[in-house]
Amino acid sequence: MTTRSWRSRARRALTAVGTTAVLAAGLLAGTATTSQAATQGPCDIYAAGSTPCVAAHSTTRALYGAYGGPLYQVRRASDGATRDIGLLSTGGYADAAAQDSFCAGTGCVITVIYDQSGKGNHLTQAPGGGAAGGPDNLANAFEAPVTVAGHRAYGVYVAPGTGYRNNRTNGIATGDQPEGMYAIFDGTHFNGGCCFDYGNAETNNLDTGNGHMEALYFGDNRSWGSGSGNGPWVMADLENGLFSGVNRGSNANDPSVDHRFLTAMLKGAPNRWALRGGDARSGGLSTFYSGVRPNATGYDPMHKEGAIILGIGGDNSKWAQGTFYEGVMTQGYPSDATENAVQANITAAGYDSGSSGTGTLTPGSRISLRATTAPCCTSHYLRHNDTDSKVVISGTTSSSPAADKAGATWIVRAGLANSSCLSFESADRPGRFLHHYDYELYLDFDNGAGTFAQDATFCPARGNSGVGTSFQSANFPAKYLRHYDYTAYIAGNGGSNRWDSSASWAADTSWLVAQPWG
Ligand code: AHR
Repeated sequence: MTTRSWRSRARRALTAVGTTAVLAAGLLAGTATTSQAATQGPCDIYAAGSTPCVAAHSTTRALYGAYGGPLYQVRRASDGATRDIGLLSTGGYADAAAQDSFCAGTGCVITVIYDQSGKGNHLTQAPGGGAAGGPDNLANAFEAPVTVAGHRAYGVYVAPGTGYRNNRTNGIATGDQPEGMYAIFDGTHFNGGCCFDYGNAETNNLDTGNGHMEALYFGDNRSWGSGSGNGPWVMADLENGLFSGVNRGSNANDPSVDHRFLTAMLKGAPNRWALRGGDARSGGLSTFYSGVRPNATGYDPMHKEGAIILGIGGDNSKWAQGTFYEGVMTQGYPSDATENAVQANITAAGYDSGSSGTGTLTPGSRISLRATTAPCCTSHYLRHNDTDSKVVISGTTSSSPAADKAGATWIVRAGLANSSCLSFESADRPGRFLHHYDYELYLDFDNGAGTFAQDATFCPARGNSGVGTSFQSANFPAKYLRHYDYTAYIAGNGGSNRWDSSASWAADTSWLVAQPWG
């Protein structure tokens, strides 16, 4: 059944970390493990392998055992004030509670991702470039909640239009100099837009030609290259090409990878490069490609420029989405053994999504929301339209088409403006959130503005009819998520809008949290 037809029918009416890493570093350095520090980070391992980090970015944890500085900076919407978010302890995990309290009741964006390497290669808001204007959007600070070794933390959620960059770096490879890099991404958050990248790019935000970039790419863009299956793939963005192997186009050895936490690695040296990856929660790395530079002109020798990008292409192509938790760039071409030891450190770090359950109001879980108003609507579920960005309720059953079921399925997220409340991301339109505009409900991408975060945040409360749950608008606390004439709004119990009608208000604003249809 199409949206149009149902709408008309509806009458529109660690210690583990330290142990693993210490062993790895000890093996690499050929020293007794007992002489190592109590905790080690990935950058200690790279240093032990003689390929030290020259950039180290993470919003979740320290990447050196001895790092005790800030991880990132947030800016809150209410007054524009900024706050550095640091660690619970030296060498440890992000102090997520500091973000929660600083941003409580308003929105926050991530303004700076600090470089832990001491080189000063911090990432900040990307400027416009050859492909798209700017400045780019900043990531909402609450959209990628995780736990690391049981500690709450937030990743960098890149919606299309979001980007970070540093064009004036220190120590990053240029020309044909060797370098390595890794990043941990959310393997379930991607798209086909160009280009969700992390790594080396042009210093002037323009496409300056083949070989002027060397960055990790993750997604299912097929414009230049692809691997086996339907994607997503880890590829190398070398400028004017996403490479999955020695050939332009498809290379069968580069597999589709969708681990919830994905380790992606890239390294390059004169006429030599490699692409590796694995599950950031367990196991080792697989080598997707290792060999000579691509058999296309302009990539040997390379012409790396040494800027660092996150979430965008070299020319500020900003149509991609993805999530970044941590990443580093090194001086020199790391050995496979060093990278394997880094992967052991990563898997021991204990990344977790917090919740992957279904049917609960826990961030990460998938749900459907069933209306409770009888007799009209008790088999109706909140869903987005296919034909426009409006949100409605419609009858949904086990025999409904898959597209209708998917449209009625939501991923619970920590509230964009207040992590004590909730936001709802569409299950089949990743990155798009339920939000109100002019008191009507719509589905749209987070535009990074504080107003959007507020408009997309709802605080659950006991059902206004005594049944189920009601969802209070974060910025209009007298208004609740309501269906009226089969369309969704935020509504008060009496008010100036037609949908504020007191008749059936309590039932219309009470919802049952149901198992997800999709
Ligand atoms: O190489 C793929 C993309 O092509 C680069 O990221 C961008 O600079 C160019 O548009």
